[in-house]
Amino acid sequence: MIDASKIDCAAVLGAGTMGHGIAHSLALTGVSTRLYDVDDAAAARGLSAIRANLDKGIEKGKVSAEQRDSTLERIVATSDFDAAIRGAQLVIEAVPEKLELKCTLFARMSKALDADVLLATNTSALPVSRIAAACSAPERVVGMHFFNPVHLMRLIEVVRAEQSSDSAVKTALDLCLRMGKDPIEVRDTPGFASSRLGLCIGLEAMRMFESGVASAEDIDKAMVLGYGFPMGPLKLTDLVGLDVRLGIAEHLARELGERFTPPQILRDMVAAGKLGKKSGQGFYPWPR
Ligand SMILES: NC(=O)c1ccc[n+]([C@@H]2O[C@H](COP(=O)([O-])OP(=O)(O)OC[C@H]3O[C@@H](n4cnc5c(N)ncnc54)[C@H](O)[C@@H]3O)[C@@H](O)[C@H]2O)c1
Repeated sequence: MIDASKIDCAAVLGAGTMGHGIAHSLALTGVSTRLYDVDDAAAARGLSAIRANLDKGIEKGKVSAEQRDSTLERIVATSDFDAAIRGAQLVIEAVPEKLELKCTLFARMSKALDADVLLATNTSALPVSRIAAACSAPERVVGMHFFNPVHLMRLIEVVRAEQSSDSAVKTALDLCLRMGKDPIEVRDTPGFASSRLGLCIGLEAMRMFESGVASAEDIDKAMVLGYGFPMGPLKLTDLVGLDVRLGIAEHLARELGERFTPPQILRDMVAAGKLGKKSGQGFYPWPR
């Protein structure tokens, strides 16, 4: 497996909420990055979002104009899958949370790429070992679970699948450090550490809102002021995406039991297109 310090060419699959943030962080670290999306417009939106976040970084004095320019120069947004992965030493997948879709993409790229290319999935809760099983040379597959917004959040869960080699896990952990992140290593279990714990609180907050215990603002305030959370669970759900959280809850309900059954309000809001910040409305309005 390639040494993390030698990785200088990567591909990110999916240019949505997470994919563009991962591409941003890789390119800022000095890695040439292809940002691939099946949808041309989504790839272009991902690149615009990176530019906007770098500009914000300059305003706050955290990024220099040179860093912004060199970071943007290292990113190519594309809807050509073969061109995106050609020559990549690392691929991080951030497409929607659907096991079949992820397995199909991993099977395709594992056939096309050398066995020492690190293949990582950013799944929030799906079994990484099942995704690895779809690949040739599955020992190079790990989970790298980033947090939103990726360019600001330091935690990455590195998930060791049943098949992951020690060297693949080490490369992933070292890469996190190289990106200025702070990794934890977790065994491949449903929801890993963070999604499992975070979702418990999120789902209970939704049930409380649904039954009129308090307003969304006050439920969130309880956790921010009472427990020192940086953000309340309903606002966090809006940032993550209600559809994303629903998918994770359905998966954990199947794997871990009833306590993860999605509340009706979550199903209704997703059906109504209220997906949180990305759609302009969730538990809070998000004017654009
Ligand atoms: N949103 C979060 O806070 C968060 C946090 C951690 C992990 N995750 C995980 O990251 C993954 C992506 O989530 P997201 O929130 O970025 O989703 P998103 O819906 O914002 O973005 C997904 C992107 O993938 C693209 N896509 C769909 N099919 C594709 C394909 N076949 N090939 C390439 N691109 C394709 C879509 O066009 C879209 O741009 C999921 O597995 C999710 O569970 C999300």
